[in-house]
Amino acid sequence: MSKLLPQTLTHYMVVDLNKRSKLAEKLPLAIILFLSTCLGLLSCSTKKTGTEQSLDVPYVASKPAVVEAMLQIAQVNKNDLIYDLGCGDGRIVITAAKEYGATGVGVDIDPNRIKEANRNAQKEGVSDKVQFLQQDLFDVDFSKASVVTLYLLPYVNLKLRPKLLEQLKPGTRIVSNEFDMGDWQPEKKIKVGESTIYFWTIPEKKPI
Ligand SMILES: C[S@@+](CC[C@H](N)C(=O)[O-])C[C@H]1O[C@@H](n2cnc3c(N)ncnc32)[C@H](O)[C@@H]1O
Repeated sequence: MSKLLPQTLTHYMVVDLNKRSKLAEKLPLAIILFLSTCLGLLSCSTKKTGTEQSLDVPYVASKPAVVEAMLQIAQVNKNDLIYDLGCGDGRIVITAAKEYGATGVGVDIDPNRIKEANRNAQKEGVSDKVQFLQQDLFDVDFSKASVVTLYLLPYVNLKLRPKLLEQLKPGTRIVSNEFDMGDWQPEKKIKVGESTIYFWTIPEKKPI
């Protein structure tokens, strides 16, 4: 693997970031972050021209046990509207709809992920409860969400934080796989296998 890794990650992050990589799906995002930092590629040197958009975060799917734990820590239920910002193959909102009766919106900048998410929603019989938007997560109005899920990167969480606090109603729950929000302390933090899950609620009195 040590022989394969740099070449594959370089290929994944620089040349072909918009294509699905089986290796990348299996690697925890923290490892990709670490390796990409070592490789000097932290900014996901993927700036592309034309119609292709750049990714702020490479695609790595949350493990099923982590998805379950994220939905449980947020106590997702049939009254919820859940947004997954950077939704990948749609697994978080699809599981929320299928198992907890929630409605959901997944947002991803990568058109391949959106196609895949729509296919998965159809396969799981929840197309009427979820929708997927091909959009930059920083441009999306997610103010109607009652739950927001994230599996991004530390600096992306921090960039998103003021927008979350500005747009979301008090009481909205936020769950992040793997990365925290800097000095905004989580109300809950749990370990699921190798992963850490963080949970916050938007406070009545928002910090300035
Ligand atoms: C680590 S994956 C998480 C996928 C999914 N949320 C999960 O937990 O399985 C991050 C996702 O964010 C998407 N992404 C990266 N930058 C984005 C941006 N600026 N706007 C929307 N999506 C973005 C990537 O295409 C990728 O699918």
